[in-house]
Amino acid sequence: MKKSIVQGLLPSWASRIHPYVTGKPVEEVERDLGHSARKLASNENPYGPSPRTVVAIERSLGRIHLYPDSSVHELRQKLAGHQGVGINQVILGAGSSELIHLAARAFLSPVDEGLTSESAFPIYCLAISETGAAARLVTMRDMTFDLAAIRRAVTHRTKIIFIANPDNPTGTMFPTRELLAFLNDLPPRVMVVLDEAYYDYA
Ligand SMILES: Cc1ncc(COP(=O)(O)O)c(C=O)c1O
Repeated sequence: MKKSIVQGLLPSWASRIHPYVTGKPVEEVERDLGHSARKLASNENPYGPSPRTVVAIERSLGRIHLYPDSSVHELRQKLAGHQGVGINQVILGAGSSELIHLAARAFLSPVDEGLTSESAFPIYCLAISETGAAARLVTMRDMTFDLAAIRRAVTHRTKIIFIANPDNPTGTMFPTRELLAFLNDLPPRVMVVLDEAYYDYA
């Protein structure tokens, strides 16, 4: 199919979406520079995978011809026990990006609006925009999510707010007391996605 025909089939908001640009793979950097390089851009673990993870993956290789348990019952049960929550409160994704996309897709439609900040992880804006909802970006204060300004930006159309603590890429945090005040002050129809992807890293 010609590109123009494909574009005509897309909903209007889809053609305004800018794809997420990932960090260059180290092989590409090395090809470009002509010598070896160490990649720091994506905050990957420089020490390699946990040996226990490698053993667990190797052990499962003999079963990859079968569909896995799509409800991931065993792992969810263990995680629920570890966190002290019910198994139905645990959702797994291929990375937290998938969960961010799922949250947006589950709750937003083109009449809604999602809030985040302009310097936040770009997937928030992408996930909101992919649903046709309006993505509104609230300016950060001292490179940190300005929770008071985000609260003021909430309208009757706002359904979801994406914030990260600690934040990446700014590397800043807001204190628990600010978060609790923010959550208590929001209308109950507004859902907050609190992304703690960098909790352990910090
Ligand atoms: C704040 C934040 N949340 C989530 C992610 C996505 O993490 P994952 O690799 O688990 O999808 C990133 C990745 O850079 C991030 O910076």
